[in-house]
Amino acid sequence: LDNGEMRTPPMGWLAWERFRCDIDCEHDPKNCISENLFMDMADRLSEDGWRELGYVYVNIDDCWSSMKRDKNGRLQADPKRFPGGIHKLARYMHDRGLKLGLYGDMGTHTCGGYPGTTLDKIEIDAQTLADWEVDMFKFDGCYSNATEQEKGYPLMSKALNATGRPIGYSCSWPAYQGGLPPQVNYTQLGEICNLWRNYGDIQDSWDSVLNIIDWFFENQDVLIPAAGPGQWNDPDMLVAGDFGLSMEQSRAQMALWAIMAAPLFMSNDLRTISSGARSILQNKMAISINQDAMGIQGRRILTEKSQIQVFWRPLSNNASALVFFSRRNDMPYRYQTTLSKLNYTTGSYQIYDVFTEKTMVLKDSTSFVVSVNPTGVVMWYVSAPAKLNHRQFYKGGRLQ
Ligand code: DGJ
Repeated sequence: LDNGEMRTPPMGWLAWERFRCDIDCEHDPKNCISENLFMDMADRLSEDGWRELGYVYVNIDDCWSSMKRDKNGRLQADPKRFPGGIHKLARYMHDRGLKLGLYGDMGTHTCGGYPGTTLDKIEIDAQTLADWEVDMFKFDGCYSNATEQEKGYPLMSKALNATGRPIGYSCSWPAYQGGLPPQVNYTQLGEICNLWRNYGDIQDSWDSVLNIIDWFFENQDVLIPAAGPGQWNDPDMLVAGDFGLSMEQSRAQMALWAIMAAPLFMSNDLRTISSGARSILQNKMAISINQDAMGIQGRRILTEKSQIQVFWRPLSNNASALVFFSRRNDMPYRYQTTLSKLNYTTGSYQIYDVFTEKTMVLKDSTSFVVSVNPTGVVMWYVSAPAKLNHRQFYKGGRLQ
């Protein structure tokens, strides 16, 4: 969607996977869906180095609202759990250089059973979001049929635009259509949404992450052309930092989400996250690969009999990213190959290992070995041959 928003994949935090529909603030005050939870996460994002790296969205998901609209027919926050209301929460975010995301549902009810947005409510709900100074809106699709969705998702896009407030628009529509053509029209989605959920919900397990990875790369020829600045495929939240993934698996999720140019919405508890998970999610090179300005979604280029898979993404400045991923369950696998086998054929390249931070120079024809841990990755930032780099960067004695 060409609304000036999300020219690179959005980054931030989203409540759903970790905190779900916990509304029991009496017994679980620290974890229930309430303004305190979102203020806590905002504090962590701004005080623990996340915001500077680009993690700026704080996104509310389902179960935030009151069971009833107000007397003017507007959505309203649950008064007990959000006593300050959504507008005040948006101000809290803006004061800290963060943005607020809100959730709604195209249908009679949200998936959690809260008031939804039927076709006749689209304009008033869009206006409410703008009045509250919300920055992003996720539009879920429970409790509506295909005809209603066909009308509702484009109408909401128009209605948001008509408010004059730039609001990033996340559409769950394709996930409800099965994710693929002919039901899904990716050309249209790119015109009306900034990002969209293509597939089922992520859970806190490696099984779930692997299933999502497989679906996105099996369908890469359909999905890659749909993505670009302002329009992104969304394989769902980062669960690195929760309970289900090992450190290797967390690196694998981060690396492959970067290859996919995926939105980076963490759903974890930033108050208690381990330093290991934090350093993976805060890896500067992985983030800069994810955020590359060209916004070209990467692809799987090889699946070996050894169960090593290789992924590649073209990047700005003649650079690219490579990920070697092991689906094995035995021991670190020594994968031997050459850059020319991976389609690099113009001499020697500068290699930067994203997670070990080591560098080396490699000729296209030189055989090398990478040791890839079970369910883990080795991720490389590959830049153009060293000589060319030198000329590029120092043209006219000035850093270009
Ligand atoms: C289904 C969505 O796909 C999830 O991400 C989450 O928003 C839930 N609905 C909330 O009920």
